[in-house]
Amino acid sequence: MNNQSIGVFDSGIGGLTVLKKIIDLLPNEKYVYNADIKNVPYGTKPKEEVKKYIKEAVNFLISQNVKAVVVACNTATSIAINDLRNSYSIPIIGIEPAVKPAVENKGSKKVLIMATPTTIKEEKMKDLLIKLNAQNSVDLIAMPRLVEYAEKKDFQSDEVKEYITKQLETYNLGDYSELVLGCTHFPFFKPILSSIFPKDTKMIDGSLGVAKRLKNVLSEQNLLGNNQLEIEYYYSGKKVENEDELNNLLKII
Ligand code: DGL
Repeated sequence: MNNQSIGVFDSGIGGLTVLKKIIDLLPNEKYVYNADIKNVPYGTKPKEEVKKYIKEAVNFLISQNVKAVVVACNTATSIAINDLRNSYSIPIIGIEPAVKPAVENKGSKKVLIMATPTTIKEEKMKDLLIKLNAQNSVDLIAMPRLVEYAEKKDFQSDEVKEYITKQLETYNLGDYSELVLGCTHFPFFKPILSSIFPKDTKMIDGSLGVAKRLKNVLSEQNLLGNNQLEIEYYYSGKKVENEDELNNLLKII
């Protein structure tokens, strides 16, 4: 038993989509959520610069005496998870695009992976596709502006719809049975994406996998808590006073 908090971080509000799944599985924990909004977006900036931001964001969580850190950001996981694991002794859980289940379920169709430019071009993605022998059954698309729209809490406007439609112009949407949401900001756009893709396209993201993994790791290391659920929010290490907006976002996912 351990009643220290669990640290969760993302470049912005995207990690809330992961936090939601974690809370569903682990309701008796305290959470410290750090949104690095001073430095968002991560997915379009040089890797070395973003690595520094990630280190700062995780150091902040460590300074809050957390018992584990969840990197609720695909981009940060793809460029820094190994460095982070080598730097800290507490469990560090990352998130990966849910490519494996999508490839397993795709039937005779293909898989479309939507993520940030960095996640798409990183070695980790190439290695994963090779490992799954999926290079020919998967297409990739970067949607960097969805991160900006999400940070403005604009999940539904005509402008967002136009942007997505334009980005997808050269793709034949009927080719895909699975759409992988490979950025934690993207599940906020599920309603609008459902209106653009054919009805039977399934959307999948890695958040449930992360929540399950966290639960297993905490349980194996005897670190599960028996707290009253509590979430403290920080913006790049600064306490968020008006928490309602973030709590409300947890309700709409
Ligand atoms: N939410 C993040 C991800 O899962 C990063 C978005 C960004 O800052 O570009 O990749």
